[in-house]
Amino acid sequence: IPAPMALALFISLWPRCLSGFISLPALSPLSLTGKEGLTHLPSLGPSANPAQGKAHLKQCDLLKLSRKQKRLCQREPGLAETLRDAIRLSIMECQYQFRYERWNCSLDGRTSLLKRGFKETAFLYAVSSAALTHSLARACSAGRMERCTCDDSPDLENRKAWQWGVCGDNLKYSTKFLKNFLGQKKISKDLRAKVDIHNTNVGIKAVKNGLKTTCKCHGVSGSCAVRTCWKQLSPFHETGKILKLRFDDAVKIFSVTNDAVGHSELVGMQRRSHSPKSPATPRSTDLVYMEDSPSFCRPSKYSLGTAGRTCSREASCDSLCCGRGYNTQSRMVTFSCHCQVQWCCYVECQQCMQEEVIYSCKQ
Ligand SMILES: *[C@@H]1O[C@H](CO)[C@@H](O)[C@H](O)[C@H]1NC(C)=O
Repeated sequence: IPAPMALALFISLWPRCLSGFISLPALSPLSLTGKEGLTHLPSLGPSANPAQGKAHLKQCDLLKLSRKQKRLCQREPGLAETLRDAIRLSIMECQYQFRYERWNCSLDGRTSLLKRGFKETAFLYAVSSAALTHSLARACSAGRMERCTCDDSPDLENRKAWQWGVCGDNLKYSTKFLKNFLGQKKISKDLRAKVDIHNTNVGIKAVKNGLKTTCKCHGVSGSCAVRTCWKQLSPFHETGKILKLRFDDAVKIFSVTNDAVGHSELVGMQRRSHSPKSPATPRSTDLVYMEDSPSFCRPSKYSLGTAGRTCSREASCDSLCCGRGYNTQSRMVTFSCHCQVQWCCYVECQQCMQEEVIYSCKQ
């Protein structure tokens, strides 16, 4: 085979070569339908074809939005798709972070959960607003939106970076847009509303704190005659991980103080390191909640319970199964092994078998 043809053949075979090496992501197959609702956006209808012309208007109709949100959606052709991305992202991340918890962020019972003031509710607000912030900033720098573009804040000579084809994620625009989109301007005295807004802002802040400055050298190889820097969002997994830690340390709110007229602050019981709990205003990075969560052990209007959940015998079965015990099942799984790259273009593997033991919670 002449060399260029071999190369073409090689490239066309890449997916097959790769599939042996790249294992599937740690997520279990999640059957996302696109109809899943964000906390802020009650529910999405079926997907419309985003490809041409005024298709986004139809997409905006399918999203359940307030009048103002709909107007913003219609004005910006890239928005509907970005909202959809954000929803997907928030669901995937939430389910990933809660894969070993009794509440596994499934969509069943979510509507009931959102009406309450549990820790889980707080997490849903935070992860949703974080996903929105992240997706909007990315959509700007990826050129999917008409009304925003690369990060153009003056601090990093961003415009110089553009000349080199570098585009920083536009967090400034996305944050501003989101606050307007969610209509947070009104100051609410209602405790519940304040809690939701606080947790929403925790999510936005987590994305902001994860912003990293990346630099690159240009010029004759290695000379670094010109150096450009720009801001880049961290992978959303990192944001998710941080929010999960905040969930574990969430602060329970018991009242609102009203010291000045029209000014009120949340008050929670907070454990500062080594000192006993004392009333304090939660930090802007603390997730806050109002009532203790149910156990999520049994089916309820908030979840399906933990019967049938697979667990790890060493790590999670005892707590996940709520003391009901677990079933043990073994099965043979085949996997590719002893793989060797063959000239020219494919990988030859043998099939090996291995016993795998699966534990799952009893009814
Ligand atoms: C969450 O748990 C329920 C109840 O056991 C199960 O049916 C569902 O598939 C789980 N969802 C995810 C995303 O793991």
